Amino acid sequence: MMPADPLEAVTHSDPYPYYRALAAHRPFGFDERLGLWIAAGPAEVAAVLAHPDCRVRPAAQPVPPTLAGTAAGELFGRLIRMNDGAAHAPLKAILLRLMAGIDTGMASARAAMLASALDTVPGMATAAGAAVNRWIFTLPVVAVAELLGLPVRAGADAVAVAARVAAYAAAQSPLATADDVAAGADAARWLGQWLHAASEVPSRSDEPGLLPALRHAAQAEGIAPAAVAANAIGLMVQACEATAGLAGNMLLRIGRVGTALGNLPALAACVARDDPPVQNTRRFLAADARLCGVPVKAGDAVLVLLAAASSATSDDAGGRAWTFGAGRHACPGDALAQALAAATVEALLARGAQPAALAQAFRYRPSHNARIPHFD
Ligand code: HEM
Repeated sequence: MMPADPLEAVTHSDPYPYYRALAAHRPFGFDERLGLWIAAGPAEVAAVLAHPDCRVRPAAQPVPPTLAGTAAGELFGRLIRMNDGAAHAPLKAILLRLMAGIDTGMASARAAMLASALDTVPGMATAAGAAVNRWIFTLPVVAVAELLGLPVRAGADAVAVAARVAAYAAAQSPLATADDVAAGADAARWLGQWLHAASEVPSRSDEPGLLPALRHAAQAEGIAPAAVAANAIGLMVQACEATAGLAGNMLLRIGRVGTALGNLPALAACVARDDPPVQNTRRFLAADARLCGVPVKAGDAVLVLLAAASSATSDDAGGRAWTFGAGRHACPGDALAQALAAATVEALLARGAQPAALAQAFRYRPSHNARIPHFD
């Protein structure tokens, strides 16, 4: 059965025929039931993401009401991902420049080293579904923490940090319960204190990491240290669910159709396009405007179906992975994410994970935007 709507499509077993039909026949339109504009065609998705009045948050609600007034909300309000406008531009420029300089080959090699540390943690040394879930939510995040220069080389530290990052990420979901939100606020506080404590320890001069470079460049431009800290945590958060989803969807692909194991980076690129972990994102109109030839009103919301845009172009030689977004907020971690997802899958296969068995017993985690398998 086809999904009932684009939100249901996210965790549907095969939403791609539905997406292709939407992109072809209704590339931009209003969904009365959801109360959202839906952009599904590649040109429409690109137009929404490029439109100056399409913002990442509603003008009247910079922070989701459930998080407002908590440590999680304070962190959220400082993220470049969640802000438009001039105030965030200098830090964003620094962050993008530093991220563009990341050597993804080196990041993969370090991820392999961190994987060995995780082997020492109870509950990780198995290829059962529960352990696979833990691996995909841990290794990419701690690999980003390591890139930042934060102390995660001991397996237990790595697991503790990744668990907090996952708790914070989960609290941002519209499906989060009151307990999830409370855990997210705790996690935000914990991560802030951990980052602060870690920065008191001088970093090793041979591999100073991204964070000291970020702090240095930010200080020179008079950017508040709290904004730098929030966005450092933000990088780990960005790496969490989406990269777990990419690694998980790669395991499913291998389990269903097999793959040349020598070419996991190519598989990562292919899955990012054909079974993407981030299926949609949202934009909010800051002013009355014309969007894709249609008049829209200030306050209207647009659901941007990245996965539909991908599925509409997946047969083209030039088809691209829309899962990383486009325009002003395009993901600067796309290459890194694919490298880390490939490194995670490689680590799991080396430890005996059985993709065919995993693909027989899983469900998708409940979500309105991310397609992340949860293995039984
Ligand atoms: C498979 C994994 C990933 C996917 C699918 C993904 C996807 C995305 C998407 C769709 C956006 C834009 C959201 C929007 O425009 O509404 C985004 C933004 C961002 N991503 Fe990623 N991401 C991934 C991994 C990463 C990683 C590993 C990092 C960094 C370590 C990262 C850092 C960021 C940052 C900083 C932004 C905000 C950019 C801005 O607002 O200017 N992402 N990501």
